[in-house]
Amino acid sequence: MNFELTEEQLMIKQAARDYAQRELIQDVTERDEKAIFPEKHIKNLAELGFMGMMVDPEYGGSGMDTISYVLAMEELSKVDASVSVIMSVNNSLVCYGLSRFGNEDQKQKYLTPLAKGEVIGAFLLSEPEAGSDATHQNTTADEKDDHYVLNGTKNWITSADSASTYIVIAQTYPEKKHRGINAFIVEKDSPGISLGPHEDKMGMRSSDTHSVMFTDVVVPKENRIGEDGFGFKFAMMILEAGRIGIASQALGLASGAMERAAAYAKERKTFGTEIANHQAIAFKLADMAVKIENARNLCLKAAWLKDNHKPITVASAMAKQYAADIAMEVTTEAVQIHGGYGYVKEYHVERLMREAKLTQIYEGTSEIQKIVISRDVLKE
Ligand code: CAA
Repeated sequence: MNFELTEEQLMIKQAARDYAQRELIQDVTERDEKAIFPEKHIKNLAELGFMGMMVDPEYGGSGMDTISYVLAMEELSKVDASVSVIMSVNNSLVCYGLSRFGNEDQKQKYLTPLAKGEVIGAFLLSEPEAGSDATHQNTTADEKDDHYVLNGTKNWITSADSASTYIVIAQTYPEKKHRGINAFIVEKDSPGISLGPHEDKMGMRSSDTHSVMFTDVVVPKENRIGEDGFGFKFAMMILEAGRIGIASQALGLASGAMERAAAYAKERKTFGTEIANHQAIAFKLADMAVKIENARNLCLKAAWLKDNHKPITVASAMAKQYAADIAMEVTTEAVQIHGGYGYVKEYHVERLMREAKLTQIYEGTSEIQKIVISRDVLKE
């Protein structure tokens, strides 16, 4: 078993770290406060090749592996999880979905600009009544001659306004239940699409989240992804890969919070010494370090399995559940170590704590991951 990263992987990690620590940090607080979309940063990350990291260079991507993606996601998320969620949805839901299941025309027309970061993508699965219970899609895609007509509402859509390309999951044959669901590439400026208001979120405030309404939206048949009725399996297979991205985001929130807590503990003095010299603080840091190392190993293992074309369903669920849960614990402890300073914006850890909460909720709650894991434990 080889735990060593390659030169190239280390360079990618360093590039992400440099960008986060030098650039993202500068305006992250203002963007969080005012919920400003990080347009400039997304353009810069595209230039670094981070918007289509794992896509074949033939389609505008960087041809990197999933391990590199985990490393980049961790470093960026230490500073700004709004930027990293936009990047994650684009990379591991939209680009991955099109790379793996799109046909040649779809790859040329839609994947290439997405992988280059010229446009960004959004993944539309959740609905007002189908979040965790993803099989119950109420959005319909009625088949007519050479096109489908979409009607319905999607909820909690990351990058709904800033994206140009949507992947939409919708029901074509209700009587077939999940086997009658399809996935479509939909251009956001298609007539009949409208957006709900910008969601005023607790964290990841500078990524734009909206509901999206479809009223008689015409989608050409050539924009269906895969065989008729493949949409639910497509969504599940995309989400399990996507969970590696969000697990790495959670990992970054935790390790970013620990780095800040450790730095603060070496500066702040109480009772005549730096608080790092009090075991009450040092032991908290030790507990954080063990949890973070476990989360990192789960993320890297899931990435390695994906890169080696092995099943990732359980590994990605474990990485996502564990990393999200420890991100919440570690960021909360980082606030505690900072005391009152942790509760104000200047020290960033309160924001990391707010952001960590979302990793336990989106791309499958921690409870959904436990369903996936426990089914595997209990299978005959
Ligand atoms: N790969 C391939 N196929 C899969 C699969 C997988 N990982 N998981 C399930 N399937 C298939 C099953 O084989 C089955 O197919 P057949 O009936 O043809 O055999 C079918 O899908 C239904 O499977 P289940 O019976 O297991 O389905 P279920 O109703 O019990 O649900 C679930 C399973 C794991 C709970 C699933 O519904 C789920 O993952 N829900 C959470 C959805 C989610 O993550 N939502 C987040 C939205 S996206 C988001 O947040 C993005 C963002 O903006 C950041």
